[in-house]
Amino acid sequence: MPSSDPSYVLVTGGAGFIGSHTVLELINQGYKVVVVDNLSNSCEEPLRRIEKLTGIEKLPFHKVDLADIEDLRAVFRQYNIASVVHFAALKAVGESVHKPLSYYRNNISGTLNLMDVMIEFGVKNIVFSSSATVYQASPNGEPFREDSVLGCTSPYGRTKLYMESIIQDIVNAEKSWNAIMLRYFNPTGAHESGTMGEDPRQIPNNLMPYVAQVAIGKLDKVHVFGNDYNTRDGTGVRDYIHVMDLAEAHVVALKKLTQNCGYQVFNVGSGSGQSVLEMVNAMTEACGHQIPFVIDPRRPGDIDTIVCDPSKAGNELGFKVTRDLKQMCADLWRWQVANPEGYCN
Ligand code: NAD
Ligand code: WQD
Repeated sequence: MPSSDPSYVLVTGGAGFIGSHTVLELINQGYKVVVVDNLSNSCEEPLRRIEKLTGIEKLPFHKVDLADIEDLRAVFRQYNIASVVHFAALKAVGESVHKPLSYYRNNISGTLNLMDVMIEFGVKNIVFSSSATVYQASPNGEPFREDSVLGCTSPYGRTKLYMESIIQDIVNAEKSWNAIMLRYFNPTGAHESGTMGEDPRQIPNNLMPYVAQVAIGKLDKVHVFGNDYNTRDGTGVRDYIHVMDLAEAHVVALKKLTQNCGYQVFNVGSGSGQSVLEMVNAMTEACGHQIPFVIDPRRPGDIDTIVCDPSKAGNELGFKVTRDLKQMCADLWRWQVANPEGYCN
């Protein structure tokens, strides 16, 4: 989009991990961006870092909770919004099991409000953060395709599935809408500058931020959840994707929206899987010292292998990852060393 275009991309959850990297990429590609976030799992510092990296003076930001429809309306009134990238959600699978209502309220009610306001203001283009978690576990670990069987085991996963359905129903009802669901696999890494990255507020649930905090000495050792899976070394295999590759996927998806694509779903991953031990080894290489680990029992709900078939995004969006495991770990390590306490603590 040429920078002479007066319209904005609204990014919900744009202060968070994936949102902030996507905002950076959007600005670098000439988009005008306005961010809304309630800062429930983030802070404003990544926005300041984006300003430094891009040289823009002030990134438009509004501290808005999607629950507050009036606040959301005010943002739509203030800016000429052409499309929305919707990241804002709670995302901790385990927490969602204990607090299902918080997840349904935050994720689904927030999305309903956003859709209401989009309809009110005639904004009909959305890219939505979906997840590999919407797929039903496959017994033999074959790569998930967009038409693989869906089914979730956690309230968090169900919120993603329901939000996809809500958006699909809107597109079905109003053919001039365009909506792309991006089903992310396992995002990791950080911006290559080392100034932006993932900043968990508590002890990380996900593997790679945990490994990074062990590598820097904030945590004792990595707990490898099971080594008796049906995989090459017995530990779980996942499809890791560099967060900047994922950020680029959003830009190509936004471009696709302008071609009247209707409702579309794309996997966003590399298409290849790495085991937990391979990830620990790759981080060991990146940081240059041993990373202690122990083998613990399996984590309830985990399965052997979750890998995507990325060919639809390749064929129809022209999207392909360009950053390998070595770069993911090098960038993650650079971020961790430069920001041992993160930026919101
Ligand atoms: P994140 O927590 O870093 O970012 C989410 C942001 O949304 C946070 O800044 C948070 O403050 C904000 N937010 C939450 N609820 C809000 C509300 N009601 N109103 C306004 N802002 C709100 O998470 P992330 O890892 O960047 O994930 C972004 C999106 O991608 C989420 O929708 C998540 O479900 C999805 N996703 C993440 C992963 C992953 O592994 N990180 C994988 C698949 C999908
Ligand atoms: C990866 C592998 C663990 C932590 C989750 C969500 C999914 C999506 C991405 C949002 C597994 C093992 C982990 C640890 C370990 N998020 N592990 N020790 O479970 O693939 O996916 O994040 O949509 O919905 O479920 O990611 O990073 O938690 O685990 O051994 O301390 O690492 O068993 O094999 P997961 P993860």
